[in-house]
Amino acid sequence: MKRSGNPLFILTGSTGVLGSHILYELLWKIHAAGYQGKLVLLLRPKQGKSIDARFLDLLNPVLMPAFMQEIDLDRIRKDHVLLQDYDITTSETLDTCFKSEEGTYHLIHCAASVNLGTSAAACEEIKQTNYYGTLRLIKKLRPYIHKVSYISTAFAFRPEEWKAQNMVQYRNYYEIFKAQIEEEIPKLCDEYGLGWQILRPSIIAGRLMDAPYHVVYRFLVFYLFGAFFYRSKQAYGNMNVRIALNPNGGLNMVPVDYAAKVIVRALDSPVKDLNIVHSKYVPNTFAVPRMLEAAGWTNYEFVSQIPTDLNPVEKLYYRTAGAQLSQYLLADDYPFDMAEWKGLVPGVEAINLEGNLAGLCN
Ligand SMILES: NC(=O)c1ccc[n+]([C@@H]2O[C@H](COP(=O)([O-])OP(=O)(O)OC[C@H]3O[C@@H](n4cnc5c(N)ncnc54)[C@H](OP(=O)(O)O)[C@@H]3O)[C@@H](O)[C@H]2O)c1
Repeated sequence: MKRSGNPLFILTGSTGVLGSHILYELLWKIHAAGYQGKLVLLLRPKQGKSIDARFLDLLNPVLMPAFMQEIDLDRIRKDHVLLQDYDITTSETLDTCFKSEEGTYHLIHCAASVNLGTSAAACEEIKQTNYYGTLRLIKKLRPYIHKVSYISTAFAFRPEEWKAQNMVQYRNYYEIFKAQIEEEIPKLCDEYGLGWQILRPSIIAGRLMDAPYHVVYRFLVFYLFGAFFYRSKQAYGNMNVRIALNPNGGLNMVPVDYAAKVIVRALDSPVKDLNIVHSKYVPNTFAVPRMLEAAGWTNYEFVSQIPTDLNPVEKLYYRTAGAQLSQYLLADDYPFDMAEWKGLVPGVEAINLEGNLAGLCN
């Protein structure tokens, strides 16, 4: 099948935090091209909501970035967006909506389970969704696509020097299977004659480039820490919590709208492999107090390793949120190369995450 001059995209994960912002950027792209092109969204019904209802939720004016007001949404919904029911883990078939005279599609695969757990159940969920689900999707779509852009995570990235020195270790199944699928996608795509690229954002935080700022419409991993203390406050707020973290380390975060802009600009570029990270880590000793403050938790101290004599709230923390986050809070900073990324959307240094952290947490 021929490649189209118009933008033709298939997007997974559009109901998620990052995917919804990729969706907004792609709708803008279709608008900017004079209402040319097509976008197929693969999504599933959930909690009694049909795929149409879920798509309409994404177009809620309270949630959308302000630039969406310039788009003729009725026109774009009628003529340029196609919804396709598809569950990455369980769906056996994909119908023939991809047969297009216009050409082949560019698949942006953003859907994933973002479960940082270390249990056997977490392993199975991640393996089925993020690993087998991805391979099956590419195989099924093979006749209709010319390129795959895979949204991975900066935390699956390991510098080449580390690999050469056998220093590579992963913290959870999420990282393991993201790293594994990153190895498989180039092989599979090369075998099928498809283009490919791997795009790896760091921790996704709320919106900071497009008003209304700080908006995210569903739970993000970024909020796991604060949510734990917010929910535990009533039962355990009187207890001291020793939080294990590296006082010299930090959290590498990118605002969701920034990550989506970089991703969409990278799509047509020859970039194969890109870490979408911030040039500055937000120091743990700055970020964690802000998150605790937003959660209303005042009773804490920092320690350099997980204590062994845990009090009740510490037991709960290290069994739940702390089980997923401590490895990140204790880690050293990574040496990311950001030259290519900065070229795609200049001005990243201007994004002041530290200054906006309190707003993002609230
Ligand atoms: N959050 C971060 O800090 C972060 C950092 C780096 C990279 N990433 C990557 O960015 C991508 C999006 O992450 P996010 O934070 O936006 O996640 P999210 O808000 O949890 O969204 C996940 C998306 O994947 C979809 N999905 C999950 N399982 C599915 C299945 N079995 N079938 C169909 N769709 C399924 C979800 O659909 P439903 O709405 O139907 O559940 C949702 O649209 C992921 O690939 C993630 O690894 C995230």
